[in-house]
Amino acid sequence: MKIGLLASEQGLYSHKRLKEAATTRGHQFRIINLMECFVKISSTKPQIYYRSGEIINDLDVVIPRISPPITFFGTAVLRQFEMLGVYPLNNSMSVLRARDKLRSLQILAKNRIPMPVTGFANSPQDTEGVINAVGGAPLVIKLVEGTAGVGVVLAETKSAATSVISAFKQLNANILAQEYIKESAGRDIRCFVLGDKVIASMERIAAEGEFRANYSLGANVKPIQVTNKEENLAIKAAKAIGLEIAGVDLLRSSNGTLVLEINASPGLEGIEKAAKLDIASKIIEYAENNAKPYNKKNTA
Ligand SMILES: Nc1ncnc2c1ncn2[C@@H]1O[C@H](COP(=O)(O)OP(=O)(O)O)[C@@H](O)[C@H]1O
Ligand SMILES: [Mg+2]
Repeated sequence: MKIGLLASEQGLYSHKRLKEAATTRGHQFRIINLMECFVKISSTKPQIYYRSGEIINDLDVVIPRISPPITFFGTAVLRQFEMLGVYPLNNSMSVLRARDKLRSLQILAKNRIPMPVTGFANSPQDTEGVINAVGGAPLVIKLVEGTAGVGVVLAETKSAATSVISAFKQLNANILAQEYIKESAGRDIRCFVLGDKVIASMERIAAEGEFRANYSLGANVKPIQVTNKEENLAIKAAKAIGLEIAGVDLLRSSNGTLVLEINASPGLEGIEKAAKLDIASKIIEYAENNAKPYNKKNTA
């Protein structure tokens, strides 16, 4: 197969591993810089151009790994590949849903998936109302489109929360307020979902003095045995958003396990290390099994 990784950053561990796995399994693999693509939309001959000259029209699979600042353009290019019948591992709609924390929490809520109570408001006059609606301080304030722990703040008091919210608002940022799950105390669980299975799980333990357990913020990772119920929760959450590959983050609270968020391009470094598994090869194998039926259906 010909596989394209749609990326915006260079030299990441996950990219390197996917390339190794794909070539080892006999596929052609290339990394395509999304920002150097442009598209021609036409009802008769839609096309994707690369670096001003080349027309990319021979891929069987694309794996999007779109960073937040280029979501709009990146998902448009991904959609164009979908129009051409290329199998996306994840599709553009699910990537867009996952990128927006508010939208994905609303989808999870609709599917009765347990989560921390979350509020969202527009007017500064509603700040106090939102803080109260999520149970008062301490609470967590987050950028709606943040990732890797950036823009996630723990406010210990109501007045700290009010200041943080007003500072974000002055920057015109969309934010949400969320009940703080203190029992989880700097720990969370990342389940790696592929298709309808959890293929690996790890516990992430935040660095000293930090409540955010993101790997990129220096969290320690270790293997963890999750329950069947937790696995099913992670699978259900990924399905609700429409993701085939997903990193689903769980928090164990005194009211049971909650889904905190869903990532559409979960990093491989921490999870491969913690689970001692070749996850990159599993992803490529999954693409092998799913690309053909998709290509057939979408180009017929
Ligand atoms: N409501 C919360 N209660 C407790 N810890 C939280 C809460 N929200 C976030 N955290 C911690 O902060 C980390 C980052 O938050 P998250 O919502 O996953 O944002 P990001 O998309 O930036 O990773 C989580 O992995 C978790 O450790
Ligand atoms: Mg996260």
